Amino acid sequence: MSSKGSMSSKGCILATGGAGYVGTHTVVELLNEGYDVVVVDNLANATMEGLKRIEEITGKRVPAYNVNLLDTEGLKNIFSENRITCVMHFAGFKAVGKSVDIPLQYYKNNIGGTVNLLEVMNEFKVYNMIFSSSATVYGVPEKLPFVETDKTGGCTNPYGKTKFFIEEIMKDLYTADQQWNIVMLRYFNPIGAHKSGRIGESPIGIPHNLMPYISKVAAGELEFLTVYGGDYETKDGTGVRDYTHVVDLAKGHVAALKSVKNKCGLKIYNLGTGKAYSVLEMVKAFEKASGKTVKYKIAPRRAGDLPTFWSDVSLAKKELGWEAEKDLDEMCEDIWRWQCMNPGGYPSGQSKST
Ligand code: WQD
Repeated sequence: MSSKGSMSSKGCILATGGAGYVGTHTVVELLNEGYDVVVVDNLANATMEGLKRIEEITGKRVPAYNVNLLDTEGLKNIFSENRITCVMHFAGFKAVGKSVDIPLQYYKNNIGGTVNLLEVMNEFKVYNMIFSSSATVYGVPEKLPFVETDKTGGCTNPYGKTKFFIEEIMKDLYTADQQWNIVMLRYFNPIGAHKSGRIGESPIGIPHNLMPYISKVAAGELEFLTVYGGDYETKDGTGVRDYTHVVDLAKGHVAALKSVKNKCGLKIYNLGTGKAYSVLEMVKAFEKASGKTVKYKIAPRRAGDLPTFWSDVSLAKKELGWEAEKDLDEMCEDIWRWQCMNPGGYPSGQSKST
């Protein structure tokens, strides 16, 4: 799983975690835009199948390295073999609940891996970074929607803290050395799948996130959805979120890349839709898209959940010229197509959901 990347005039992007959910969708958009892409992924929470399918969708080959970001020599080798112009850093453990049980692994992998990556980039004079941050860095809202200038921190679990700490590390790095161009993209609840139905979200075992769970209930793989909390002060008592199509997010990365090339310095953008839907609205939308019934039962609130949050998306629109285009119906239709075409997710080599 390693080979030399060629170099197009547009540059060569290193995608860490490029075999994962947001990574695969972004690699497709980058290839479609004419960028060369090299992937580094240790397959801790992904499989080679995603990369194979990228090649199938785009007709382009994606050189890939099975290297852990903590492996400095392995990383240096990738930078020696490829003329990387920018790194898109998707890699990281992302299970909120698990991060509470194994915090040290989360800090070592997410933060240690990122620091290592930044050091190697520095050594190879690659100063362009686009980082997968998360709405989780905002913690408990003082007001809504979240704006990029709102305070961050106060995250309630180690996973969220790793995103917050990495943002702080990158800010310090930029303060120390303004050769860097760093764009931090704060995702709001990525859902959906590629139109082809060939790549999508492939969680292991029982999904923790809402939409993979709903789609498995609609498909009859799971009996009913447990709705965590029916007594929030929201439109119907259930939790409210800003669900964003993963292909829109992927396009947000391409827009950020253009900004990095224009030497943007340090920038932070929300990537969301600015629209907010409740759990029950999501159930209804999915029933419409799939033509199936999604049984659910209201249960107590899930520890650590916020009642409501969504994004102010005006900055990304103004500065990146990016806005989400896909609506809720399309998100649900795309998930359903992915579910029907891949009932158990990717076929082989499924791995643990660290
Ligand atoms: C959405 C809504 C739940 C499952 C988390 C992380 C975030 C990001 C995405 C990334 C909430 C409700 C869910 C279920 C339910 N992490 N729900 N029954 O919690 O907004 O965000 O995942 O990689 O950083 O915090 O997303 O999809 O888990 O929940 O009722 O079985 O659905 O309570 O209101 P969340 P989610």
